[in-house]
Amino acid sequence: MLSRPRRNRKSQVIRDMVQENHLRASDLIFPLFIIDGQNRKTEVSSMPGIYRYSIDLLLKEVESCMNLGLKAFDLFPNIEESKKDKVATESLNKDGIYLRAIREVKKNFPEACVITDVAMDPYSSDGHDGLVENGEILNDETLEILAKMSLAHAEAGADIIAPSDMMDGRVGYIREALDGQGFKNTSIMSYTAKYASAFYGPFRDALESAPKFGDKKTYQMNPANQREALIEAALDVEEGADFLMVKPALAYLDVIKVLKDNFDLPIAAYNVSGEYAMIKSAVQKGWLEEGRTITEILMGMKRAGADVILTYHAKEVLEKGWI
Ligand code: PBG
Repeated sequence: MLSRPRRNRKSQVIRDMVQENHLRASDLIFPLFIIDGQNRKTEVSSMPGIYRYSIDLLLKEVESCMNLGLKAFDLFPNIEESKKDKVATESLNKDGIYLRAIREVKKNFPEACVITDVAMDPYSSDGHDGLVENGEILNDETLEILAKMSLAHAEAGADIIAPSDMMDGRVGYIREALDGQGFKNTSIMSYTAKYASAFYGPFRDALESAPKFGDKKTYQMNPANQREALIEAALDVEEGADFLMVKPALAYLDVIKVLKDNFDLPIAAYNVSGEYAMIKSAVQKGWLEEGRTITEILMGMKRAGADVILTYHAKEVLEKGWI
């Protein structure tokens, strides 16, 4: 036998030397949920260890993450039902929790990277990402609302705007709106291939944002499709996106890989709420070893081609020294 692959596995030093992929704090983005009020912190029941924070406590949470070297945050608001309407008016409220949270985080931690979510669902009385008329999700009419939302986020100090709505043409529309108002340095992380997935359930619990009727299949992608992701990615590149995201991640590693192989923009993977819930429930039952399972999954996403991973595990993997 001339070739013995085991020689490169014979000691820790050699294994480390030949390791192909690495996980670092700078690869991770931590999604954070915000609620109204003061000194409030409520656990998401389907996501043990993940909380919704009032802004004062959000700042404390951001500070403890920054101390661990975790510096990129994706913010999501839980909006009271009474503030929701058909056109997502609350999303433009300068004194509302979302725009205030962006301003406060940037004011207190200017070196943090704040990523904001652009879609109507947290503010919509229909619970959909776009404007609804007679049960239909209107595309072009939604773009105008998304552009206003993006401008409000940019004005509040967002570093990266992340449209998660899956309307056609929104990246270009938002890019133009931002440039037109002088926000040419505000980045866009597009949810390029966002699938109509069962894995978003716990997130919708966190925000209480589930659709009031129907599903999201006329705008989010069919989980059976891979090539369609190439169409979405080509459009996003053409429209000026800075990052291409695949979501969810675990059941879509092939999609991460195919985008990585075909496009030169950085690829983001969203390790979503349902993926987090699966791990935590198995760990609680004693069925899986927590640190090794989590790092194996995150490493799988990197190996598939993700440059950056949005994950609810971001803080714990650093805190517990798992990476
Ligand atoms: C909605 C949005 C969703 C997520 C991020 N933005 C849910 C959905 O599309 O219904 C899901 C994130 C997760 O499950 O962790 N615009």
